[in-house]
Amino acid sequence: MSFRTTAVDYVEDVSPGNGALPPRARYATSDARTLSLNGSWRFRLSATAGAEDDAFAEPGYDADGWAEVSVPGHWVLQGGGRFGSPAYTNHLYPFPVDPPRVPTENPTGDHLRVFDLPEDWDLDDGGAVLRFDGVESCARVWLNGTDIGEFKGSRLPHEFAVGHLLKTAGNVLAVRVHQWSAGSYLEDQDQWWLPGIFRDVTLLHRPAGAVLDHFVHASYDHAGGLGTLRVDSDVDGRVTVPDLGIDVATGESVTVPVEPWSAETPKLYDGVLATEGERVPLRIGFRTVELADGLIKVNGKAVLFKGVNRHEWHPEKGRALDLESMREDVLLMKRHNINAVRTSHYPPHPAFLDLCDEYGLWVIDECDLETHGFTEQDWRDNPVDDDRWTPALLDRAARMVERDKNHPSVVIWSLGNEAGTGRGLTAMAEWIHGRDASRLVHYEGDVDCRDTDMYSRMYAGHAEVEQIGQRLDGGTHKRRELPFILCEYGHAMGNGPGGIADYQQIFESYDRLQGGFIWEWIDHGVKDERYGFAYGGDFGEELHDGNFVCDGLLFPDRRPSPGLVEYKKVIEPVRIEGDLADGTVRITNRYDFADLSALAFEWSYQVDGETVESGPLSVPVLAPGESADVKLPEPPAAGSGETQWTVRALLAADTAWGPKGHVVGWGQSPVSARRAPSVAPTAGPVSDDRLITLGPASFDARTGALRSVGGVEVTGLRLDVWRATTDNDDGAAWQTDIRYSEVWRKFGLHRMRHRLDGVEAGADALTVRTRVAPAAWEVGLSTVYRWTSDGERLRLTVSVTPEGDWTALPLPRLGIRFGLSGADTDSVTWFGGGPGEAYPDTRAASMVGRWQSTVDGMQTPYVRPQENGARADVRWAELGGLRVEGDPEFWFSARRWTTEQLDAAAHRSDLVPGETVWVHLDHGQHGIGTASCGPGPLRQYYLLAEPTEFSFVFSQAGGPAGS
Ligand code: GAL
Repeated sequence: MSFRTTAVDYVEDVSPGNGALPPRARYATSDARTLSLNGSWRFRLSATAGAEDDAFAEPGYDADGWAEVSVPGHWVLQGGGRFGSPAYTNHLYPFPVDPPRVPTENPTGDHLRVFDLPEDWDLDDGGAVLRFDGVESCARVWLNGTDIGEFKGSRLPHEFAVGHLLKTAGNVLAVRVHQWSAGSYLEDQDQWWLPGIFRDVTLLHRPAGAVLDHFVHASYDHAGGLGTLRVDSDVDGRVTVPDLGIDVATGESVTVPVEPWSAETPKLYDGVLATEGERVPLRIGFRTVELADGLIKVNGKAVLFKGVNRHEWHPEKGRALDLESMREDVLLMKRHNINAVRTSHYPPHPAFLDLCDEYGLWVIDECDLETHGFTEQDWRDNPVDDDRWTPALLDRAARMVERDKNHPSVVIWSLGNEAGTGRGLTAMAEWIHGRDASRLVHYEGDVDCRDTDMYSRMYAGHAEVEQIGQRLDGGTHKRRELPFILCEYGHAMGNGPGGIADYQQIFESYDRLQGGFIWEWIDHGVKDERYGFAYGGDFGEELHDGNFVCDGLLFPDRRPSPGLVEYKKVIEPVRIEGDLADGTVRITNRYDFADLSALAFEWSYQVDGETVESGPLSVPVLAPGESADVKLPEPPAAGSGETQWTVRALLAADTAWGPKGHVVGWGQSPVSARRAPSVAPTAGPVSDDRLITLGPASFDARTGALRSVGGVEVTGLRLDVWRATTDNDDGAAWQTDIRYSEVWRKFGLHRMRHRLDGVEAGADALTVRTRVAPAAWEVGLSTVYRWTSDGERLRLTVSVTPEGDWTALPLPRLGIRFGLSGADTDSVTWFGGGPGEAYPDTRAASMVGRWQSTVDGMQTPYVRPQENGARADVRWAELGGLRVEGDPEFWFSARRWTTEQLDAAAHRSDLVPGETVWVHLDHGQHGIGTASCGPGPLRQYYLLAEPTEFSFVFSQAGGPAGS
């Protein structure tokens, strides 16, 4: 007796499917010819692929007892757990690797939908096409009881001719979706496994004489300013572009003067392809992409990609993204100076590319292909090197290219991601080059660039990228002739990425380096009642990779993280620099195509961080690459404080993506320097049995511990070297570089003991001597706290002398921490870097000024809690009735939990505010780097244990001001 039914053999078949129409270009069809089948569908979940027979597909089947799900959607994200759960792995297949076989446990969702045709559809005139834009991972489809085929290729469209099967009313569409299939072996991207019909389902009326496929060829000759248009169509027709006076037959070329399309100047011309049966709207962008002089050039110019890798993500809907979220992504990118997207690691919902055309983003369109899990068996049996799978690979390549070929924003095709090497990839590249010679081909795994038009790497360190820029990297002859991109860098997991300003500087120094794409755009946190946002393991997965799925520049709810704000500053298209103290500012246009006419400039002048005057600054309309030295006005009469210029570049008028006044770039420069606070030690300590008083402060007489300053109670003030390790401190498990959090924990920096060696009340100072050291080790920090006062203000000088061998052991942080009453501490004001967090290698966006926030507002909500929220270069801060001035400037943070609690938390929901606000005043912080996937901090951002001295001056907030 056999348990396997032939009905499910297709699930494990390496072929791409049966019954679908050849792929073709995607375009907006008029509403009158479109019937959306999105909405509520009847749904039944089975545990295995062959558990149920096909009876449900028959008209008249009674599905009244079934549940319902929304289409588009993933069933595991619906039904409150009734339909299984999401599961996350980075590269491990969550099933035994035995291609093309899949497990018996194969969640299978039967979907049913009954629909009527729109009254005005005349099916005698032509036919109809049923389109699925995305189904994970394999579907079999029946219409009115007829099996019309089955398909794989989750993030690719599949169409079926169905006109002959349709009735005017009561059509029954039945779709059986299997979570696992042979196709799953090709879809091992680092993301949640989310089965379902997750993109639109549409019925399209195709009247006789309608377009089958069409290919818009719109090139630009930059020398002559001319665009050449030719639209090829399977069905003859005419092409009109009214704004250009074009009216030609399909297949005929026409050359006219045009404005070119670029990501910076996304000029689109509306046109129409009219055939006997249909009018197809065209959105034409004229541009020419080529490999010339070893560079990726568009319209004759080399471009610098300031990109991001974008997975599709919504915290509740998964990859079933709505149009508004897609638009929000594009707007957020544009507003943060991003000019390029790699659609990692599959073609996005087609509407996303329409938005990229319209708003202007360079796109690397990547095929739905990754076989990363085979790395665990040295790539043995890798489908991309096994001819049996080549038809499936070619099918995927064709479905991507044919669907997206008419988008001007798409400048590069990518074969896929992390799929090793093999003949199948070569076949894909050859097919793509042959079908579309007007774009370049990318694949990072092709280290010799056998099949590709550019050398691409991920996570290479700064030094190596620089070497590549200098063409000293070796490799095949072909590779050495090619341009370079970092298709992934700056791993934005948790706090970070660090070091991106240093990368940018290298990119800008060598022509061969054409920029990079930050990994990645958005955290894939799943909205979850228990945790706020869930990550891998939160659904009890057998195998998972934890919060590695939360590594984006946006939090899951699309709020920008500090990493995005940093990136915006690092890649700003206008550079404002120079020693502004001499009254001149140097403005550089760093666009590749646009001049600066869309921007207005504004100067402002700050005294002690507060703007005292501002005004417009007139800047010549600079061409790309040009600079000008612009004279600033006479500085306002300054008074005695610290003074500085700030110059901003703003949008001069509303644009499609940003309002007038939106800041595009800025620069700052000091004029007169800050005077460090000084306190003449005129008061001396006075002791009784219990207490020592010194000016406004009281101390415990036995321990020398500070008790209060000017009536504000202070607890637990002491040296602190520990930070709740960041994902980048922790580093990836496969990291060969030192993973600092491991070393720090080994040496006990998270459990330092404080030995009291002496409390000395001298004539003009109270001195407390301690040794701060971890159990089990000889390393220690001899730490002396010296307190002085002028009667009103209290100065603390901390001297730290390392003892033992610290050479291999940088410190996470070095500073003091203390507690204030939580009830009295809420609003926070500071003069220094802000408004957001900064660390030594993530501080480009930290702007010196006077800032206000609250303790809660100073927290950065990383999905997995970790060190966060430090403000850089703080001169002074006020909170909880206390004013603290630094000598020198310090890193400032405050939170309603301890570092130890932060360190122990796995989710935001673990952080429960206590009664104390813990304030950190740090002299130093270790760099952040990107070791969660990539290099750690550069050496210059290490916080080395060295003899160090730093001071703070405490007084009552609102009392006599500092210095
Ligand atoms: C890359 C991979 C991405 C992602 C990233 C780490 O190797 O291409 O998909 O896994 O590492 O987050």
